[in-house]
Amino acid sequence: MKSVGNLENKHILITGGASGIGAATALLVASRGAKVVVSDQNRQQGEAIVEQICAKGGVATFIAADVSDSDSVIALFAQAKAAYGPVNVTINNAGIDHKPTPMHLVDDAVFHRNVAVNLAGVWYCMKQAIIQMLDNGGGHVINIASVAGLHSAPTIAAYSATKHGVMGLTKSAAVEYAKANIRVNAVCPSFIRTPMVENVLANVDERVRNAMIKANPMKRLGEVEEIAGALAWLCSDESSFMTGQSVVLDGGMLA
Ligand code: NAI
Repeated sequence: MKSVGNLENKHILITGGASGIGAATALLVASRGAKVVVSDQNRQQGEAIVEQICAKGGVATFIAADVSDSDSVIALFAQAKAAYGPVNVTINNAGIDHKPTPMHLVDDAVFHRNVAVNLAGVWYCMKQAIIQMLDNGGGHVINIASVAGLHSAPTIAAYSATKHGVMGLTKSAAVEYAKANIRVNAVCPSFIRTPMVENVLANVDERVRNAMIKANPMKRLGEVEEIAGALAWLCSDESSFMTGQSVVLDGGMLA
């Protein structure tokens, strides 16, 4: 009997796979039998994650790409296909945030960079994934949004706007491609202990730091393994009737 969550024979591509949520997910899905493409703009860290996977007997390869550059994303998906065949699941996870700042004081360049990476980056990856999935009879696109894509996020409005945009892409594409056997879902975490959040916590005063850590009824940050576990389930065929939805992993914050 096959084990629950078995991901054997699945080709899973993860952007932003060198760090945080993406790295933890790469390690977990590889341990469940997936062939994993770890992609990131950070080659050194990405190759280190691939080394860890391979040392444990998993199958993975690193492909460098900048998701904010359409040509780079086209090359990424072509190289991924050459490595393991058409992508079965793509996890569009690469993202950036910005320093918490009153909206009227945020530089336009910061806004545009958040849009380029978090929204256009997901757009480019979705297009390339869908092209391969249409040819291959189906697949699953999973976008990492955020609770900031579902409700207000004062002082991180530019980030929040991009994550709302990701939710729009997720829902529209889910309906558009359901007949083609392509599912599209999102995952919406609240604050998770990753380099991105550690960096924010290190640069705010103690009052704000405590408020961030205790922003949910569980009164703690989430851990990357808690997001990776949900993603591994989503990657499996056990989630087969789910599309156009978001999995909210927030310690009860939005309840
Ligand atoms: P992280 O900073 O640990 O990892 C992000 C990775 O994305 C890094 O390896 C970075 O090199 C890569 N990346 C950034 N820009 C890129 C680009 N243009 N092209 C290719 N790779 C690029 O961050 P974390 O926390 O693991 O975040 C992952 C995703 O989860 C992001 O989309 C983030 O917005 C989202 N998220 C994170 C939350 C958290 O509390 N950590 C909460 C909600 C959502």
